[in-house]
Amino acid sequence: MRCLPSLLLAVAAGTLAAGCDLSMKNQPRNDRMESPTLWPGGPQRAPPPAGTVAFEDIARDRALAYAPPITAALLERGQQRYAIYCSVCHGERGEGDGIVVRHGFPAPPSYHTERLRDAPPRHIVDVITDGYGVMYSYADRVPPTDRWAIAAYVKTLQVAGPEREAR
Ligand code: HEC
Repeated sequence: MRCLPSLLLAVAAGTLAAGCDLSMKNQPRNDRMESPTLWPGGPQRAPPPAGTVAFEDIARDRALAYAPPITAALLERGQQRYAIYCSVCHGERGEGDGIVVRHGFPAPPSYHTERLRDAPPRHIVDVITDGYGVMYSYADRVPPTDRWAIAAYVKTLQVAGPEREAR
């Protein structure tokens, strides 16, 4: 067995490393917001300058502010995301009769009511972002561009119309 020596070496190295463990546990380190030794008069992590905005926030706000152009790819994405996140309650055709509702969750309104047919895609994006009444926000699961994609798809569902007349 040619690999036996390297195996033994690895085991020995492992034992040595384990032997070093004691000293590893006692290393000096700087905890966040701990005593003021690194920054004069402040915690270990310097606070961001006033007015700092995380780069991601700007990108997210920009994506939320403008509807992307409607393309086949966007609609396809919307259809897929709608099936994953919305149809369980709103139903495949947006009639408010998804499986979760059939198990007792409060029924959402049909997308085919006059009020929701007239609502702009922005309203759907806002509902996904903030939630609405008993519907909770999907902001942490559906990123901004997908919200527009879903909104575009819901609009096509509305154009297609309900399977039966909205109540
Ligand atoms: C767990 C069930 C559930 C899921 C999942 C769900 N919703 Fe809802 N939704 C509701 C309920 C219930 C209401 C009605 C809330 C109320 O009026 O209190 C509602 C209302 C709405 C409305 C109508 C708001 C209005 O002006 O009346 C829209 C639009 C909407 N949802 C879009 C979506 C979209 C898009 C998704 C997927 C990202 C989604 N919902 C996922 C339950 C759900």
